[in-house]
Amino acid sequence: MDYVIEMLNIRKEFPGIVANDNITLQVRKGEIHALLGENGAGKSTLMNVLFGLYQPEQGEIRVKGKPVKITNPNIANDLGIGMVHQHFMLVDTFTVTENIILGKEITSKGKIDIKKAEQEVRKISDRYGLAVDPKAKISDISVGMQQRVEILKTLYRGADILIFDEPTAVLTPQEIKELIQIMKTLIAEGKSIILITHKLKEIMEVCDRVTVIRKGKGIGTLNVKDTNPNELASIMVGREVVFKTEKKPSVPKQEVLEIINLVVNDSRGVPVVNGLNLTVHAGEIVGIAGVDGNGQTELIEAITGLRKSESGTIKLNGKEIQNMSPRKITEAGVGHIPQDRHKHGLVLDFPIGENMVLQTYHKKPFSKNGILNFKEIYRKARTLISEFDVRTPSEYTLARALSGGNQQKAIIGREVDRDPDLLIAAQPTRGLDVGAIEFIHKRLIEQRDNGKAVLLISFELDEIINVSDRIAVIYEGKIIAIVDPKETTEQELGLLMAGSKRKEAGVGTND
Ligand SMILES: Nc1ncnc2c1ncn2[C@@H]1O[C@H](COP(=O)(O)OP(=O)(O)OP(=O)(O)O)[C@@H](O)[C@H]1O
Ligand SMILES: [Mg+2]
Repeated sequence: MDYVIEMLNIRKEFPGIVANDNITLQVRKGEIHALLGENGAGKSTLMNVLFGLYQPEQGEIRVKGKPVKITNPNIANDLGIGMVHQHFMLVDTFTVTENIILGKEITSKGKIDIKKAEQEVRKISDRYGLAVDPKAKISDISVGMQQRVEILKTLYRGADILIFDEPTAVLTPQEIKELIQIMKTLIAEGKSIILITHKLKEIMEVCDRVTVIRKGKGIGTLNVKDTNPNELASIMVGREVVFKTEKKPSVPKQEVLEIINLVVNDSRGVPVVNGLNLTVHAGEIVGIAGVDGNGQTELIEAITGLRKSESGTIKLNGKEIQNMSPRKITEAGVGHIPQDRHKHGLVLDFPIGENMVLQTYHKKPFSKNGILNFKEIYRKARTLISEFDVRTPSEYTLARALSGGNQQKAIIGREVDRDPDLLIAAQPTRGLDVGAIEFIHKRLIEQRDNGKAVLLISFELDEIINVSDRIAVIYEGKIIAIVDPKETTEQELGLLMAGSKRKEAGVGTND
């Protein structure tokens, strides 16, 4: 059999944890090979070993049949291996081309030949249908585009084995379709792909084979056409997983969040929330469905105090909170699971334990007379870590060292535990495995049943339909429809989100 990659009996330890325990992964030429496993199972670690970022304690790697030692990423590049990381590694202030050639500059007479590099980047972009503008600045382009730059970076270095670490977690449904097309083009051009994803639908759609790992150990490799999502989920988690969340009908009470005629500008000064009205009651979950870029981000930022409101009012429990400081808003009773966990959710170079008190460290029992009480802080952290199944070697581990999904579980634990009157959950299950998604959905519903208000923002329509009691469709900065999840379909929502169908009745209220 023609294997392009063989990782045989790989072992990789970190202090306090065996991240890869005797794992074997064999990838055939020309296939898309999925790597599946729970949050913290060791997928990113295994791929970082393959890319030369970590050295394994044991095991052998063969590339195209030849045993190799991959001691750094340059050697991986030379062997034709490229990696698109779970969290991007681009320089924001550089252009697309500058990022791509970084470390592999084309020079003439000692100077960087940026024109030539741009031509080269454009050529590769056209060949694989990536549609990237070589001159654009990274900070000005969308997340989906940034990911394509990462792909281009690997192709520019001549990679024919591509590792994608959860590429679709950060993408919108439309961008996911485009990425799948790009992967198919890459395969048609003779490349091989290792794909990490938690979305079983994607594995069924594009992958040839799938290797499952659980808690650092290899469970086995299956042909995708011989399996199904239910089987994959139970092999991976080690128990049956329920995909549909059970819940009682909601019993909405008083208004907790009331937004009237809100206008919020984006960073360029364009009003992207434009006369928005929305109410969320105690005891209900309102889901916001919309195509990315219709004002969702700015709406959340305005409610949480991260962005200025131009006009209109935001009331929490009857009191106006617009343009108050984030801390005041937090203390008034708003919890926030942010869309970008690295930017707004965690201090990556603090221990995960200290991250559990980011909003409460200045209060009793976590501090007294301005002095932190670490005993109490870490006591709280241990409780949250066990209650929310955050898999980490210890509460002293830096947040940065946790797996992506476990960082997310830690944030959710912290926000839910503060028991806010209004919980804003933005893409809360992004990057989570199916078991963890089930758990988080249950916790959101529990908040609701305890009489709290929950505002859920998600690109996953099945999540919106499954979890929400009412769905508010956002389009061009306004709520254009309120829909009953029991009476709608993904198709109908899709049409509403595209603005092609309007439902005026009951906008912003329950009646
Ligand atoms: N640099 C590091 N230092 C210490 N521990 C680490 C480090 N990197 C990973 N780990 C630990 O190794 C284990 C495996 O992590 P890894 O990131 O490989 O998981 P994953 O399968 O990619 O999970 P996810 O789906 O959440 O991204 C985790 O327990 C993690 O905390
Ligand atoms: Mg990972």
